[in-house]
Amino acid sequence: MSVVAIVGAQWGDEGKGKIVDIYTEFAEVVVRFAGGPNAGHTLVVGDDKLVVRLLPSGILRPATLCVLGQGMVVDPDVLLGEIDELGRRGHVELGSRLALSDRAHLILPYHVLVDTLRETTAPAGRAIGTTKKGIGPAYEDKARRNGVRAGDLRHPARLRERVDAALAGWAPTIKSLGGSVPSAEALASALLASAPRLVPLLRDTSALVSESIKAGKSVMLEGAQGTLLDLDHGTYPFVTSSSAVAGGASVGAGIGPNRINTVIGITKAYTTRVGAGPFPTELGNAEGDHLREVGAEFGSVTGRPRRTGWLDLPALRYAARVNGFDGLALTKLDVLTGLSTLKVCVAYDTPEGRVNDLPLDLLDRPELMKPVYVELEGWQEKLESARVLDELPSAARAYIRFLEKETGAPVYLVSVGPRRSETIMLHNPFVGRAAAP
Ligand code: IMP
Repeated sequence: MSVVAIVGAQWGDEGKGKIVDIYTEFAEVVVRFAGGPNAGHTLVVGDDKLVVRLLPSGILRPATLCVLGQGMVVDPDVLLGEIDELGRRGHVELGSRLALSDRAHLILPYHVLVDTLRETTAPAGRAIGTTKKGIGPAYEDKARRNGVRAGDLRHPARLRERVDAALAGWAPTIKSLGGSVPSAEALASALLASAPRLVPLLRDTSALVSESIKAGKSVMLEGAQGTLLDLDHGTYPFVTSSSAVAGGASVGAGIGPNRINTVIGITKAYTTRVGAGPFPTELGNAEGDHLREVGAEFGSVTGRPRRTGWLDLPALRYAARVNGFDGLALTKLDVLTGLSTLKVCVAYDTPEGRVNDLPLDLLDRPELMKPVYVELEGWQEKLESARVLDELPSAARAYIRFLEKETGAPVYLVSVGPRRSETIMLHNPFVGRAAAP
């Protein structure tokens, strides 16, 4: 039995989809614990390829129990759309192995409207660059105790009351942003029309996951977004509105923190960010273009080109600290092929001197935090066919060893290409030590 939390160590888009997909083979239960349809994972099983935003990544595996935990915000239309898409592909047995927390909050059309209006009307430099999926406003409703929860679908009268109250709360904002306020009655009726399909999925998912752990099952807690987008630990205010770190896995899945055996952080071999906000190692030159083009760095939900930069070790050390990483999964190492010299940021020069940790309080004053780079030798060889460390060029091995030494976290897995097979597995937390490196 293993309970493994897998979280992004950077600004999201670390290539979690592939890694989580590899580990799902070993997990009997997969739990999404935070965020909502702002995430986008591409799943591949055999010839079946599917992009999911809400459904946990085990969904294409007929024996895996998939749980949408109470830390999530769930757009019912997106969820039903994904279930329908799976149905069209022949996965009709979902009902028995898909559970939706009755305490997860619902994203309703007014959340999407407010998110979109805010982003499109924000003064220059103030837009967050959100995915416009209604995430922020839905979590705002949760925090101001005016939200609609999935469990309310069981009680039509209460649901109507909650939708009324939430919409009344948003009406002044919608009007002030130039939008038109939707009808509460129409929204509640549409929700109640979906209820017969959603109510059978409702469970006390905390109890369900706890029972699975007690029964000795392997559980994967599947993170979304990344540490630097976390509401508490990220580059606030340019963050998402949920708890994307390992601590959030305990809250969002409804299990005690001591039930989690292993925490894995996923990091790219370089850094990307989509949306606005600080990014101290951003490149904006030909090397940055190389990373974007070779790494196909375009947002999976919005299609936006991602900003690209060198690996930021102070940020990775920070992520290792706030999450308690036991190990790292290093992705997209192959994208570095062809660059003659690789720079890695190892510290920041600040008015207080050189610091090894990410100086979060200076992030909005980039002139006060100068990245200190070391240069490492690059390599020209393609990496895709390597299955053990020894098959990598020595410069690539040195890059991995440098990262391990600097972060203090061992690398458990190295991804050397987009395909599942293009992976070097050094340690599998679900089954113990894999083939020797
Ligand atoms: P929101 O989560 O849509 O509110 O967006 C807030 C910030 O998080 C924006 O900078 C988004 O681009 C970013 N973001 C949200 N989800 C993801 C993700 O899955 N990958 C990368 N960035 C994300």
